[in-house]
Amino acid sequence: MFKIVVLVSGNGSNLQALINNCIENHIAGNIVGVICNDPNAFAIKRAENHSIPCEIIDHKEFLSREEFDQRVLDSLIKMQPDLIVLAGFMRILTNTIIDRFENKIINIHPSLLPKYPGLNTHQKVIENNDKFHGVTIHFVNNELDAGKIIAQGKLKVEKSENIAKLIERIHKIEHDLLPYIVNKFATLEIEKQNDIYYKTYNF
Ligand code: GRF
Repeated sequence: MFKIVVLVSGNGSNLQALINNCIENHIAGNIVGVICNDPNAFAIKRAENHSIPCEIIDHKEFLSREEFDQRVLDSLIKMQPDLIVLAGFMRILTNTIIDRFENKIINIHPSLLPKYPGLNTHQKVIENNDKFHGVTIHFVNNELDAGKIIAQGKLKVEKSENIAKLIERIHKIEHDLLPYIVNKFATLEIEKQNDIYYKTYNF
């Protein structure tokens, strides 16, 4: 069985999309664990609703990033994941974890990387009057949102589109693309390939 661990910090709608796709057998694997760094995150409830073991590791209880990562690493080693998915996980991982799980950690980021790494991507798209926006799934390395790109989903920004509508459309892409790519890992070992999957959306 292909074992998936999901790291989250917030609402967890992408976690929910992964859970649903596993239940519906659209992902040839199972989520064996969730790790959350925020005790108040709604994502925890989502994991509990489906009886998925969820470890809450509050980063505020650790003196350094390395100590926090060591604690996360201990949990990951126990869970023995084939793939680690950062789905709205708002912490930067250090080499402690990245080196141990090389090519096994992916992140979903709401922009067409390399454009707009970091926060507030939707706002930047609107402020800059960008014609296109989208999401990127990439391998995680020790630079912020800079690992090798695996897949992108792109949409056309409507004239005078507001940020709420844009975020809603971006989430729809995420909830389609992330399960699709996770299933690719489960079935095709995509990490050994060099091609980038690319899709244009009209949501
Ligand atoms: C998503 O937009 C994802 O791209 C970004 O954080 C957001 C998480 O949303 N990294 P959710 O918690 O999955 O609803």
